[in-house]
Amino acid sequence: NIKIVTIGGGSSYTPELIEGFIKRKDQLPIGEIWLVDIEEGKEKLEIVGNLAKRMIKAAGLDWKVHLTLDRRAALVDADFVSTQFRVGLLDARIKDERIPLSHGVIGQETNGAGGMLKAFRTIPVILDIVEDMKELCPQAWLVNFTNPSGMVTEAVIRYGKWDKVVGLCNVPIMCRKIAAGSLGTEEEDLFFRFGGLNHFHWHRVWNKDGEEKTAEVIEKVYATEGGLKKAMQGLKSSGVQNIPNISFLAGQIRNLGIIPCMYHRYYYITDDMLKEELESYAKGETRAELVKQTEAELFELYKDPELKVKPTQLEKRGGAFYSDAACELIASIYNDKKTHMVVSTRNNGAISDLPNDVVVEVSSIITAHGPVPISWGSFDPSSRGLLQLMKDMELTTIKAAVDGDYDAALQAFTLNPLVPSGKIAQTILDELLVAHKKHLPQF
Ligand code: NAD
Ligand code: G6P
Ligand code: MN
Ligand code: MN
Repeated sequence: NIKIVTIGGGSSYTPELIEGFIKRKDQLPIGEIWLVDIEEGKEKLEIVGNLAKRMIKAAGLDWKVHLTLDRRAALVDADFVSTQFRVGLLDARIKDERIPLSHGVIGQETNGAGGMLKAFRTIPVILDIVEDMKELCPQAWLVNFTNPSGMVTEAVIRYGKWDKVVGLCNVPIMCRKIAAGSLGTEEEDLFFRFGGLNHFHWHRVWNKDGEEKTAEVIEKVYATEGGLKKAMQGLKSSGVQNIPNISFLAGQIRNLGIIPCMYHRYYYITDDMLKEELESYAKGETRAELVKQTEAELFELYKDPELKVKPTQLEKRGGAFYSDAACELIASIYNDKKTHMVVSTRNNGAISDLPNDVVVEVSSIITAHGPVPISWGSFDPSSRGLLQLMKDMELTTIKAAVDGDYDAALQAFTLNPLVPSGKIAQTILDELLVAHKKHLPQF
C-alpha cells in the first residue's frame, strides 16, 4: 500500500488534496497519509487534519491519517512526498508584497523581489528535506508544490542532487480551460503544447483536425473586449483568483503569436499591474492580507465536526484544481499512465534555447520513470531573450539562496526585469533581508 507524506500539511489546501486522492481511490491503493507541519502550524494541522480524517471516513475508506510535527518519523519508507509549506507563513508573504511596494516596485508572491525572497527562505528547507529523504525513503518521488515552484524544483535537482522530483502548478490547467472556453470546445478535443518556466510559460493549441487555433484564442481572449470573461464562463474562478484580470495589449500579444500565461501580465503590462497593486497596498489589502482573512474563514469552517467535504469557499484561493495536478501526477507515476501534463522538469532538449540540464515547465508525458518532456522547439526573438534572462535570474537566485551570498542576491535582483537596478535594488534587498532574518540563517 502507498504511503504519502505531505509537508506543510496544515495548509488550507489540504482538503483539496484529500478530495483528489478520494477521487482516484481506484487507481491509488493508499495505506497511510502523513500530514507534517511545524510548531507554528500545529493548530492548523490539527483542524485541517481532522477534516481530512472525516472526509476519508465519509468516503468509506480506511486510509490511516497521521498528524505529526516529526518530519523524519513521517518520511520513513514513504512512496510519495508532496510539499506545500510556506516558510514564515502568510506574515512572511505580507512582507514580500509590502516591502517592494513601499518603494513603488511590484510586490508579489512568486514574481519580482518577493518571489526571490520566498526562494531564499524555502531552498534551505527543501534541501534539508531532500537530505532526510536520501536516508529515510530513497525510492520516493518528491512532488513539489511549494513556490516558487520552478526554482524550488531546480534547487532539488541541481544542489540536492535528487532527480525524482516534479514541480507542479495549477496555472497550465487554467490556461487549458480558458482556451477550450474561448473556442467553445471540450479540453479533451484540443492538443496543447506548453513551453517556458513556472509562472512564465506560453502555449500553443490545435484542434482535432490538426488546425492550429493559437491565433484564434489570442483574438478571442486577448483582443476582444470581455473575451477572457466569456472564455471563463461555467468556471467558478476567473483565471487564477490571485491575479487581477487586467487586459493585455492586444497588438503585442498578437505579435508574440503564442499565448501568454496569467503571470506574464507582470512583465508585459507592468505599469497597470503596479497601479492595481499600489491601490491594494494603500488599503492594507494586498493579496496576502486578503488571503489571511480567507484563511481564517476557512479554518472556522473546517472546525465544524459536521463538515465532511471540501467547502466551496476554498475556491477563493488561487490554487483551484491543485489536486488535479498533484493527485493525477502521483496516479500517473504509480500506474505508468503516460498522461499528458504540464510540469516543471529537466529540459533535456525540449526547449532548444535553454541548456539541457535546467528546469523548465513544459508539456510532458508522465511515466513510471517520471516526466518525459515533449519538444517545444525554439522561441522567436520576441520571447527567447526574455525567457533566457528569466532562467538566468532563477539560477542566480538559487545560487544566492544556497550560498547565502549577498552579492549574488543583488545580482539576481539586477537581472530580474521587475526590480529596478542600482541603489533601489540594494535598499529593497536590505529591507527584505532584515525583515526575514529569522528565516534566512544562510545570509
Ligand atoms: P500556508 O501559509 O498555509 O503554509 C502551509 C503550511 O506550511 C503551514 O501550516 C505552515 O505551518 C507550514 N510550514 C511552514 N514551514 C514549514 C516547514 N519547515 N516544514 C513543514 N511545514 C512548514 O501556505 P498556503 O497558502 O497553504 O500555501 C502553501 C504553499 O503552496 C506555498 O508555498 C504556496 O506558495 C504554494 N502554492 C503553490 C501553488 C502552485 O501553483 N504551485 C498554488 C497555491 C499555493
Ligand atoms: C495560483 C498559483 C500559485 C499561487 C496561488 C496563490 O494558482 O499557481 O502558484 O501560489 O495561485 O493563491 P493565493 O490564494 O494564495 O493568493
Ligand atoms: Mn503556481
Ligand atoms: Mn532588475
